[in-house]
Amino acid sequence: MTDTLTPVLTDNWDAERAWTLASYEERGGYAALDKAFAMTPDDVITAVKDSGLRGRGGAGFPTGMKWGFIPQDNPRPKYLVVNADESEPGTCKDIPLMMASPHTLVEGVIVSSYAIRAHTAFIYVRGEVLHVIRRLQRAVQEAYLAGHLGKNIHGSGYDLDLIVHAGAGAYICGEETALLEGLEGRRGQPRLRPPFPAVAGLYASPTVINNVESIASVPSIITNGAAWFAGMGTEKSNGFGIFSLSGHVKNPGQYEAPLGITLRQLLDLAGGVREGHELKFWTPGGSSTPLLTPEHLDVPLDFESVGAAGSMLGTRALQIFDETTCVVRAVLRWTEFYKHESCGKCTPCREGTWWLAQTLARLEKGEGSEDDLDLLLDQCDNILGRAFCALGDGATSPISSSIQYFRDEYLAHLTHGGCPFDPAASTAFAPVGATA
Ligand SMILES: Cc1cc2nc3c(=O)[nH]c(=O)nc-3n(C[C@H](O)[C@H](O)[C@H](O)COP(=O)(O)O)c2cc1C
Ligand code: SF4
Repeated sequence: MTDTLTPVLTDNWDAERAWTLASYEERGGYAALDKAFAMTPDDVITAVKDSGLRGRGGAGFPTGMKWGFIPQDNPRPKYLVVNADESEPGTCKDIPLMMASPHTLVEGVIVSSYAIRAHTAFIYVRGEVLHVIRRLQRAVQEAYLAGHLGKNIHGSGYDLDLIVHAGAGAYICGEETALLEGLEGRRGQPRLRPPFPAVAGLYASPTVINNVESIASVPSIITNGAAWFAGMGTEKSNGFGIFSLSGHVKNPGQYEAPLGITLRQLLDLAGGVREGHELKFWTPGGSSTPLLTPEHLDVPLDFESVGAAGSMLGTRALQIFDETTCVVRAVLRWTEFYKHESCGKCTPCREGTWWLAQTLARLEKGEGSEDDLDLLLDQCDNILGRAFCALGDGATSPISSSIQYFRDEYLAHLTHGGCPFDPAASTAFAPVGATA
């Protein structure tokens, strides 16, 4: 792999009015359509399979393989649904992408829908981001007027309608089956699988659900070829991805780079941890991925290596925390989020996240006992693998990993009768660089 940035999705973000059709077309936008229409739908699926593109929504499932699961002998309509719910704490790549260049996504939707033989596609956007919804709606309107959407697109005989749907703002609606429930007008709660969406998804019809970045990557694969994409990244994690650096970093933002780049390299590009401070812990892919520490600075950020280091690549939401951060407090905030967002369908998560927040809050105030650490781990154990969907599993990740790496800091809350990072508390436990 290379250690340089690979701007593809982000390449036009600094262009004049990059979000307009005129700007997008000026840089070759929508050229992938004619190339795709000259191929059979199956050949488009093969190209995406050969590229090695893996889902950018977190789990890393091979995109071409997912498309191949759509049963083409099923007479029901096929649907493509783009998951633009983006609500994981720290994750902030899809919203900038849709703001800066919504046509990249629209072009990806058209090529992907053609491949799976869908004639209706949806972009399910998180309801709070009204500015993004408006931008997408305008982009879709422009695409219709230019003949990129609607009937007989580019004279190919292929028809596609694209609907931008605003969700009501719930983290669980990013879970793909809860998203489908929401799209059908019901309360967003996950569905039992099987049947999987590829067989019976939206309106019980074959449905592909993909992340914004996954679909937005497709036009470049069709334009430049599968080998071009597969030539970037690592052996099993091909291509490029947007790495979102946030928190205590000098130049936070979106860094598009080949998978396999390290946090050390990204921090170099981002000017390092903020002046005068040092890295304490970080998340590789949002708050649902186990925390990592400075000892993991050289772990290649690909699906396999991050997994081997005990975490997950997730959404490449790299949240950087320096030594002034109380890890217990940070984990408590995330846990309160999970408690609030638990959809209530299953007992381990509905009850468990409430208990996790109670136990953690007690510890953070220095009111618990050392036994509470075992209690917390026991509570995590009763949720992990027992919850109905991955929200419950994700809620345990920051807790168990923070106890693994920062047990002493938890205990310090007990010995100091409160948060040692709080200037009002005892200064005997002085975190490096903290001014108490
Ligand atoms: C609680 C929860 C929230 C999720 N939120 C999102 C999201 O906002 N966007 C997304 O693409 N995937 C999200 N996912 C993952 C989706 O269920 C699904 O795996 C993904 O959309 C598949 O797309 P991909 O194969 O292109 O990655 C979430 C999963 C869970 C359990
Ligand atoms: S794990 Fe949580 S979010 Fe998922 S179904 Fe159970 S209660 Fe709902």
